[in-house]
Amino acid sequence: MAIVDVEGLTKKYELRKTGDVIVGLDDVSFTVDEGEILGVIGKSGAGKSTLLQILRGIENFDSGRVVVDNVVLTPESSRDQFSKVQRKTAIHLQRSFALWGQSILHNVMRKVCSARTGLEDLPEHPAEYEDVKAEAMEIVDLVGLKDKYNYFYNILSGGEKQRVLLARQLAFKPRVLLLDEPATMSDPLTRREIMDTIKKIHEKLNLTIILVSHMPEVHEYLADRLIMLEDGKITYEGQTSEALRYFTQQIADPVPLEPVTSDREKILRLKNVWKKYRLLTSNELIQTIEMKNINFTIPKGVIMAMIGPTAKGKTVLIRLLSGIEKPDEGEVLVNVSGEFVDIAKYGRKSIIARQKIEVMHQEFGLMHNETVIDQFSYRLGLKSIKTVERALERAEELGITDLKLDVLYRLADLPEDEARALLQKMELSQDIFYELFPRFPESETRK
Ligand SMILES: Nc1ncnc2c1ncn2[C@@H]1O[C@H](COP(=O)(O)OP(=O)(O)OP(=O)(O)O)[C@@H](O)[C@H]1O
Ligand SMILES: [Mg+2]
Repeated sequence: MAIVDVEGLTKKYELRKTGDVIVGLDDVSFTVDEGEILGVIGKSGAGKSTLLQILRGIENFDSGRVVVDNVVLTPESSRDQFSKVQRKTAIHLQRSFALWGQSILHNVMRKVCSARTGLEDLPEHPAEYEDVKAEAMEIVDLVGLKDKYNYFYNILSGGEKQRVLLARQLAFKPRVLLLDEPATMSDPLTRREIMDTIKKIHEKLNLTIILVSHMPEVHEYLADRLIMLEDGKITYEGQTSEALRYFTQQIADPVPLEPVTSDREKILRLKNVWKKYRLLTSNELIQTIEMKNINFTIPKGVIMAMIGPTAKGKTVLIRLLSGIEKPDEGEVLVNVSGEFVDIAKYGRKSIIARQKIEVMHQEFGLMHNETVIDQFSYRLGLKSIKTVERALERAEELGITDLKLDVLYRLADLPEDEARALLQKMELSQDIFYELFPRFPESETRK
């Protein structure tokens, strides 16, 4: 029997600034049977997340009808009706890693509390606390984290974090579980670990799941049936393997790369670099990373790839290479017009050297509520030669040392939340940034 029934669902977004209308979903119809895993695949911007938000009951739509476990929604439905759907579903969001800086158990307990009372406060009464704990523990066990229940969230691997997020969603006892890219940013082993957890949840609870993913292998492993979205429309529906064949047919074969010649100028160099990280769980010390004597050079114009399992230091290496992080020992050298500058030594030379490096973080560092062009002008401003010269002058006028200026400039390369936290720690407001590093003029940015 169908537990989800979607009929003629259409959703348009109107942009306030420009008045442009964007079609999110266009006359979408499908059903999902109780206990089924329905996969949803489709290119970026096809409307997958939009669909999940609507099924979650947190986004309105323009026409059509949505039924989730006998609750009917139309565009005219009352707020109360939307809340009813919200109680039937739970969602695992794309790129959402918001968890409490506490143990796995507490993170799940808080969601159990939230399911009971609407608040994530832990109960004060001992009997109630034990009761919540027992329920949470069962869920923690279900996602395979029983052995680590008292580990703090910040030391967990990506796959474990994803499983904590899943556990928190299960605390709501949803009738339909919505998963938006549950296995992104994970290596093949971690991906398998997450997929196995989903499979186990599905089998144990006979839960209905709608699963959005770009990854054919995720659907291959989990989905009973697949729908394909394209520009807000369902363009294919069928058995998973058959639908995947249709999807992958549209992807062209990769073009082989040109071989690299060895006489290229060296541009980046890591020399005798050591870096160690230790982290504390609630009761034990864990050595997360120990890099010993790393040496390599990167020639100009080369794409260097790095591969390795989760939590083995790839991001740390990127942070070292971009000067966000200092090594414990050794040098990180950047070729500036023939001279190798150690960017780990804060100061004027390092600032200029780091202008030549740009980072794209795993966790996105974009500013909310800013247009695309504004985001560009901000980055261009930060990285333009002129801006840094001007910043050095401004800093001198304001009595800011090169060292302090460098500390500030480094923040610009951090993901936004990290940068903001550090500014706060230094008791500085974001205004100092705009004072030192003005935006690039819009006409220049447009060029
Ligand atoms: N809040 C919004 N305001 C305006 N347009 C939006 C909004 N959210 C989504 N859109 C637009 O709706 C369309 C569908 O977006 P959606 O996020 O559903 O895509 P998706 O299939 O989930 O993509 P991805 O695979 O990249 O996550 C896109 O054109 C997107 O720009
Ligand atoms: Mg999406």
